[in-house]
Amino acid sequence: MSRLIVVSNRVNPPSGKGEESVGGLAMALAAALREYSGIWFGWSGKTTPEFTGQLNMQRVEGVTVATVDLEEGDYQEYYNGYANKTLWPLFHYRVDLTAYDRSFGEGYDRVNKRFAETLRPLIEPDDIIWVHDYHLIPMARELRRLGVTNRIGFFLHIPWPAHQLVVTLPRHRPLVEAMFHYDVIGFQTEENLQAFEGYVLNEVGGEKTEDGRLRAFGQITEAGAFPIGIDAEDFARITKSPRAMRVYDRMAAHSVFRKMVVGVDRLDYSKGLEERLLGFERFLHDHEEARREVMLLQIAPLSRDEVEAYQDIRHRLDGLIGRINGAYAEMDFTPIRYLNRSYRRDELAGVYRAAKAALVTPLRDGMNLVAKEYVASQNPEDPGVLILSRFAGAARQMKEALIINPNSPEEISDALSRALAMDEAERKRRWEDLMDNVTRQDVTAWRDDFVAALKGDPTVQAANTETPDEPAVTT
Ligand code: ADP
Ligand code: G6P
Repeated sequence: MSRLIVVSNRVNPPSGKGEESVGGLAMALAAALREYSGIWFGWSGKTTPEFTGQLNMQRVEGVTVATVDLEEGDYQEYYNGYANKTLWPLFHYRVDLTAYDRSFGEGYDRVNKRFAETLRPLIEPDDIIWVHDYHLIPMARELRRLGVTNRIGFFLHIPWPAHQLVVTLPRHRPLVEAMFHYDVIGFQTEENLQAFEGYVLNEVGGEKTEDGRLRAFGQITEAGAFPIGIDAEDFARITKSPRAMRVYDRMAAHSVFRKMVVGVDRLDYSKGLEERLLGFERFLHDHEEARREVMLLQIAPLSRDEVEAYQDIRHRLDGLIGRINGAYAEMDFTPIRYLNRSYRRDELAGVYRAAKAALVTPLRDGMNLVAKEYVASQNPEDPGVLILSRFAGAARQMKEALIINPNSPEEISDALSRALAMDEAERKRRWEDLMDNVTRQDVTAWRDDFVAALKGDPTVQAANTETPDEPAVTT
């Protein structure tokens, strides 16, 4: 069996600070690699004054984790810079937050080259290589320059945006050209795939081959939609673990959690946290009877906190939560509980299960795994209700959620009141459908479909698991 080499900026474990990394990519890859005795290569989470190229190798649960430190300047230009001040905001439709500094692009290319050079000696002829996310788009180009002829695939965990947004990047063409060094490119949704194809066909004169692949820049690649999932089986298991049960029991016994609504997100402007809070405020305003009863528990660990846009959103949330609690709290009841920290997965599972509804309201999101984790944690006899933004990739699959437009406080408020009043039969019917989806399209299916495509298995097509219509607005 050929080895799988997974390459991503963030590696989990270790985060470098001795903590578990928070974020969908790390969660999914940890699960995807569990059955492979492969290699996971990426950044150690540490910086040094000069780049050394020194590999740190350890064995973690059957996986060889190989990491490298970043030079401080590279960390600023590549990670804080091009990855998180340029590509992340732009690909999440925030042109207003996008920085186009040339030095960021140079740092980005330099780190991709350095990562490729560090990884090169570990690659054996039969290995297949799977590169992940927006930090590492040029990896295949750099590996090819070093003579690597192995099959190399790429999966983008975040949205691929509309053509008109991509061309705002001063160097959009070389970025997309770099993608044509991959044998297979995976996107989260059909919509993202179509946007990519639209760029290739209309901007650079590319074309579709007879067998449905894409030809441009003198190269051919296969692009497909491979919606990512969670390890649903493992989640169902940890939901019943002693620690999850303890968290659940404590909450269930306490009256303030009786009508709890939960939100769990990295503190990121793409997650629609302000809009969610405004929706919750509208709900409290419109529903006097709910004021001493319904509580929003928002868990939001800090993320990328050296980037100004993240500092700004944090300040705005602090102010907004203070204002809403100031207006609606009682001596013995606070409507919003807000926690900037991470939790163990089993504890999160207990919290999800105790919540009557989850608010997952991103303004843009590649997929959103929290939506799937919430569903997987529910009690089948008394499940809670998922309220989901139409702008999350997950909304393309999870049509039995209450689908809302997060820009509308009224839609959020109406969905909350509908969720909290929903009878058991409807909750069960919706949950069963959602759970079926979460179980069938889990992380193993995602990995196996992608790896089969990468191995060139002619019987496997990229999974088209979506129905073609727009998600229905059900509130
Ligand atoms: P993103 O990848 O943009 O962060 P996702 O919803 O796809 O968004 O994935 C987030 C992942 O991070 C989920 O697996 C979720 O459980 C995890 N996570 C988010 N917040 C926390 C937290 N406070 N503690 C532990 N894990 C968290
Ligand atoms: C999202 C991105 C990942 C990233 C994660 C956490 O899931 O798609 O690539 O790892 O957020 O962000 P961080 O900057 O901490 O790695």
